[in-house]
Amino acid sequence: MAIPDEATTTSLDHYASDHLIGPELQACLDATIRASDEAGLPEIQVSTMHGVQLMVLARALGARSVLEVGTLGGFSTILLAKGVGAAGRVLTLELSPKHAEVARENLARAGVGERVEVRVGDALESMESIRDDAARGGPGLPPFDLVFIDADKDRVPEYLEIAIGITRPGGMIIVDNTVRGGRVLDPETTDASVRGVQRMYEMLKGDRRVAATAMQTIGAKGWDGYTMVVVNPSDA
Ligand code: SAH
Ligand code: DHB
Ligand code: MG
Repeated sequence: MAIPDEATTTSLDHYASDHLIGPELQACLDATIRASDEAGLPEIQVSTMHGVQLMVLARALGARSVLEVGTLGGFSTILLAKGVGAAGRVLTLELSPKHAEVARENLARAGVGERVEVRVGDALESMESIRDDAARGGPGLPPFDLVFIDADKDRVPEYLEIAIGITRPGGMIIVDNTVRGGRVLDPETTDASVRGVQRMYEMLKGDRRVAATAMQTIGAKGWDGYTMVVVNPSDA
């Protein structure tokens, strides 16, 4: 079947979310988008159905500890936090103090502020210290059940490498924006974001620590996709 036009795939996204999420969650997400817009944040959060997929995955994994790389206004963070439930914890890493502040307000309004820590700073530095603390046996969240990588794309392989080391066997890592309108197919690209994704694929080739798959998506955000990585249990 041919790929339909973007108006149709966007309508389908809305049709699905109208049926699949209740009015309370919809209102909470709408308020988050509104507040983020008003604060001047870019509108680059995951689509509603992609965000809800993160919630569904967190629940399916029985996740109690989740790491997010790239918070923005906390749209995806809210859904991850709903996915882990009241006993769960989400640590989300964000470079911009302004984005972090907007996110904290959105998380509080959504009623999940208590279970989320928004840590401001460069995500790679934060991840390195999370890894090093865990190696020293310090108290803290690792190993993670679920990691969502969605910050600057040029360093996706570096984020993924650390994520693999701090995720439990059977845990999941989702890397967002790994299709980007097919630009990943261009071997000549000089775009650092696209190169980051290509380097991630090169890194994953033959990597026996994980099993990974790539999903292309169409809908409210055009043609994009994400990569799902599971950390192999020792008997895989
Ligand atoms: N996950 C969010 C969207 C994140 S957009 C959602 O779907 O709702 C990407 C975010 O990564 C931006 O807020 C940007 O400020 C942040 N970012 C960019 N470079 C970063 C870095 N080096 N460390 C931490 N965060 C970074
Ligand atoms: C864009 C989309 C994203 O999901 C993201 O994480 C960063 C940028 C974009 O549409 O430009
Ligand atoms: Mg993204």
